[in-house]
Amino acid sequence: MARPTPHHPLFERLFRHCVAVDLGTANTLIYTDGGGIVLNQPSVVCFQKEPASGPKRIAAVGTEARQLLGRTPRNLEAVRPMRHGVIADFSAAEHMIRQFVDMARPRSLLTRRAAFTVCVPDGATQVERRAIREAAGAAGAWRVSLIGESLASALGAGLPVCDATGSMVVDIGGGTTEVGVIALGGTVYSGSVRVGGDNFDAAIVSYVRNLYGVLLGEQTAEHVKKRIGSAVHDVPLEQMNATGRSVDDGLPRTVQLSNRDIAEAIEGPLRQVIGAVKRGLELAPAELVTDIAHNGIVLTGGGALLGNLGRRLTDEIGLDVHVAEEPLTCAVRGAGVAAAAGLLGEAGYE
Ligand SMILES: Nc1ncnc2c1ncn2[C@@H]1O[C@H](COP(=O)(O)OP(=O)(O)OP(=O)(O)O)[C@@H](O)[C@H]1O
Ligand SMILES: [Mg+2]
Repeated sequence: MARPTPHHPLFERLFRHCVAVDLGTANTLIYTDGGGIVLNQPSVVCFQKEPASGPKRIAAVGTEARQLLGRTPRNLEAVRPMRHGVIADFSAAEHMIRQFVDMARPRSLLTRRAAFTVCVPDGATQVERRAIREAAGAAGAWRVSLIGESLASALGAGLPVCDATGSMVVDIGGGTTEVGVIALGGTVYSGSVRVGGDNFDAAIVSYVRNLYGVLLGEQTAEHVKKRIGSAVHDVPLEQMNATGRSVDDGLPRTVQLSNRDIAEAIEGPLRQVIGAVKRGLELAPAELVTDIAHNGIVLTGGGALLGNLGRRLTDEIGLDVHVAEEPLTCAVRGAGVAAAAGLLGEAGYE
């Protein structure tokens, strides 16, 4: 499917440059081999509600739309079209991709009729894959190839994916954690849990509500997580203030939170992430696990930036854990590298 179409040799020459897209739950990135990362925006689109009939009008997209999440006036609706790495709202996803491609165009070689390579979670179903294909097609892509997120992330992290030696990459995104074992250019094992950074934010909201009776917004919770979040409990104390609404009287209230509070708050979802890594080590072929024991594990995705996550994983599984350079952009850069290197049609692609 991803091979050059023999009927369109001219198209193939015109559009030989590669466009990679990481349509993530939290962020969408577009990469071209000529321009590098030409777009990096939150996966949010904001629609005008009126008039009720007729085509939907977009009020904002990306960073601007994200600022409106949870604070939209009545005539606007902010939507996150992706959930757990797959499309939850098809029409919103299509509008969002189209807008992003338009935004990226002036900065790149990208034309809307380009061939796209899009990252998908390894665990996505056929229906979910078809939806991603169709949304990219409807947004104007001339041809759409899919690449598994683990393989893309491993390539972007600079792992020796084509070697016989096995590598393990753990991509912790907003909505999913993908554990992949890669060897000989393909994904030998992949496992995913529908848990990611969004679940850490939700866990912080519910912890603060239960303990202090204060309801934080999700973006406030995310801010706290990024500033003082910790995956281990025994850390030197760090504190910060966060303001939310008292559940008693509905008035604004500020609470002081510590890194130890956050470690306790996120323990549940964090255990699920750790469980997925342990499962990967149990289920991957023994020879490759020996390689992984030797080389360690690489973390990618925004969740890899959670404070002390490497240390916690090392404590739990006894292996070295490294955070990739620029973990937030690994998947899209890897997809771009794979497309440019002509890995199309190889294992991991479809
Ligand atoms: N410094 C940080 N500390 C902790 N978490 C962080 C940090 N920076 C970003 N994150 C989290 O990373 C997540 C976004 O990561 P990423 O962009 O890789 O996800 P995504 O690719 O959009 O999602 P998915 O792969 O699940 O579809 C968010 O939940 C965000 O809160
Ligand atoms: Mg991702």
